[in-house]
Amino acid sequence: MKILALSGSLRAASINSAVLRAVKQLAPASIEVRLFSGLGNLPLYNPDLENAPPAVARQLRNEVAAADALLIASPEYAHGVTGTIKNALDWLVAFEGFVDKPVAVLNATPRAHHADTALRETLVTMSATLIETASITLPLPSANISETDMLAAPEIVSLLSGVLTKIQRTVKLLPDMKPFLGSSVYIDSQHPAIVAQAAKLAEGAAAEEEIAKRCFEFVRDEIKHSWDYRLNPVTCKAFEVLIHGTGYCCAKSHLLAALLRANAIPAGLCYQRLTLDGDQPPFCLHGLNAVYLPQHGWYRIDARGNKPGVNAEFCPPLEKLAFPIVNPLEQDLPGIHAEPLPTVVKALTEYQTVEQVYHNLPDVAATEQ
Ligand SMILES: Cc1cc2nc3c(=O)[nH]c(=O)nc-3n(C[C@H](O)[C@H](O)[C@H](O)COP(=O)(O)O)c2cc1C
Repeated sequence: MKILALSGSLRAASINSAVLRAVKQLAPASIEVRLFSGLGNLPLYNPDLENAPPAVARQLRNEVAAADALLIASPEYAHGVTGTIKNALDWLVAFEGFVDKPVAVLNATPRAHHADTALRETLVTMSATLIETASITLPLPSANISETDMLAAPEIVSLLSGVLTKIQRTVKLLPDMKPFLGSSVYIDSQHPAIVAQAAKLAEGAAAEEEIAKRCFEFVRDEIKHSWDYRLNPVTCKAFEVLIHGTGYCCAKSHLLAALLRANAIPAGLCYQRLTLDGDQPPFCLHGLNAVYLPQHGWYRIDARGNKPGVNAEFCPPLEKLAFPIVNPLEQDLPGIHAEPLPTVVKALTEYQTVEQVYHNLPDVAATEQ
């Protein structure tokens, strides 16, 4: 796997460049890290040169196209990104080879947050795939630290090695997992409120499984099931569920998928067809999630909310759903969906109150799947 590293500082003693050199030294044999040294030679971007770019811009574009992922470390200048990195990105804005490129961003100055936020915004606008789990702020002890000092600090070595592992994992997963990592109308994982909550839940977590468990428990325990608590408004989009603190099972599954995706953990939607009461029709759809865990593969979880007789847990590889199928009329519907079923969206957007939704719960025969 090839990672192209870009430093947004031209300073000889730059800590951002030192961080990238340290990453290069830590890379295992399966990862080649290449530092692009020509950013200082790039002329200022001029759209008139788009079709006949200068040699150094062509070289940058070629190296970006050849890389499986980019790793950017760049300082903050006057609460903004440096001209060096912005100019480099401007040369890539209209370049097709940049679209969907996995990119991780390192912040070497913990007190500086404006540039980090702005850089992420620019990258997402340019259609990069931001690798959130590998995009971290490094707790460097001083502004004059060299890569030798970094490589002698176990905490920094562990963080940077983790960055490499997470980039590698994302690059391997992306082709199959792309639909399960993306933001959409109802799984709006890039909504600022979702991004903030996802980051809060991930704080200090050592591994993805821990983050997934925290996201699951947050949605299961902190978001009230709309019918259990008779709570309006009816919610459907993940951010609505988060802001109002309530949702039906399907809506809660949208929020859980969004929080997981915002943490770069692949997540999908699953459905069961359950009887509403006892062992006879009518049926309704019950929404839950599947999360992709590195150790276990796809693993189903149900954050609808526990209550007497309902006890869903996150305990992979053991599956502990809210409603294990015991009635022969009920079914686990096949498939893991990247987006909600249209009938679910219809029920959660057309009715005004939770009572109306309850009397018009979505259903779908297994063959209509
Ligand atoms: C022109 C200039 C402006 C700066 N503005 C900020 C700033 O707004 N916020 C901040 O936290 N640091 C600011 N700094 C400090 C740098 O971010 C810090 O020195 C960083 O280590 C530089 O990165 P480098 O070592 O990779 O060159 C500024 C430094 C320079 C040279």
